[in-house]
Amino acid sequence: MTVEVISEFRKELESVISRYYKLRRIRGKVLAFPSGKGGVGKTTIVINLASALALRGQRVLVLDLNFALPNVHMYLDERPLGTLTHYLNGEVEIDQIVGRVVLKDAEFFIVPTESVVDFQKKINVEEINGVIDYFRSQFDYILIDLAPGLSKYVVYPLRFSDHIFIVSADVKPAYMDAMRVLKLVSSIGGSHEGFIINMAESEELTYFKHMGVFAIVPYDEHLRKASQMGKTIFHVRLSGLLSPSRKVFTKMADEILARLKIE
Ligand SMILES: Nc1ncnc2c1ncn2[C@@H]1O[C@H](COP(=O)(O)OP(=O)(O)O)[C@@H](O)[C@H]1O
Ligand SMILES: [Mg+2]
Repeated sequence: MTVEVISEFRKELESVISRYYKLRRIRGKVLAFPSGKGGVGKTTIVINLASALALRGQRVLVLDLNFALPNVHMYLDERPLGTLTHYLNGEVEIDQIVGRVVLKDAEFFIVPTESVVDFQKKINVEEINGVIDYFRSQFDYILIDLAPGLSKYVVYPLRFSDHIFIVSADVKPAYMDAMRVLKLVSSIGGSHEGFIINMAESEELTYFKHMGVFAIVPYDEHLRKASQMGKTIFHVRLSGLLSPSRKVFTKMADEILARLKIE
């Protein structure tokens, strides 16, 4: 083979690779995790699932859309210059709002949010779609952390999500509210992939027994302690290995990779 042929072949190959990457880049999946009740563990689940997906080699972004009481920033190792709230107010560029979480063998990214209660400024919910679309072209999975309930700050992003997982506890009031969220998801034509039942005391469910359940996350003291330190269960070594929830997050990530593939 002559040098020209080799060089031509190499160019061809590079272009195929770059086209492949471009194609796969614009197909990032948006996963949203609403809940009826607050405090059921949405933020904890989003952050730990993001770690598990990152450890499987995925490029993952967690987008905090809880404009009332945001928590995701607690987990940042590298803070960005501004937050989503600053960006929506025109104070920083979009690339200046992405922070980083560092794991031993992986990393993932976070777009934090400033509480509008502290901020005293108005958020234009319609701009959120543009933000989601922008990041869709850079990440494999975008996990959206939401406020509880059904405000416009929840409903609007749900319309732009590819896959929805309602988070709940297996207790009656949480179940009843979760059903209302499911009704809303159906009414907007959202794709509900199953409930995530958190802080479960046993594998035997009561209220969600006959419902489509995506995962059951056990009550886990190690997970609660890790969250309190602003860490995921994948950061803490010994207790991480003893943790019953850690396996569940890894299984959830594998299930997502198998079921919700990025073509
Ligand atoms: N599976 C679990 N086991 C033990 N504690 C948990 C579990 N999931 C969440 N928690 C704890 O419950 C509290 C509320 O969780 P959080 O993720 O902030 O809920 P939400 O985002 O739905 O308001 C946190 O202190 C968190 O550490
Ligand atoms: Mg939360």
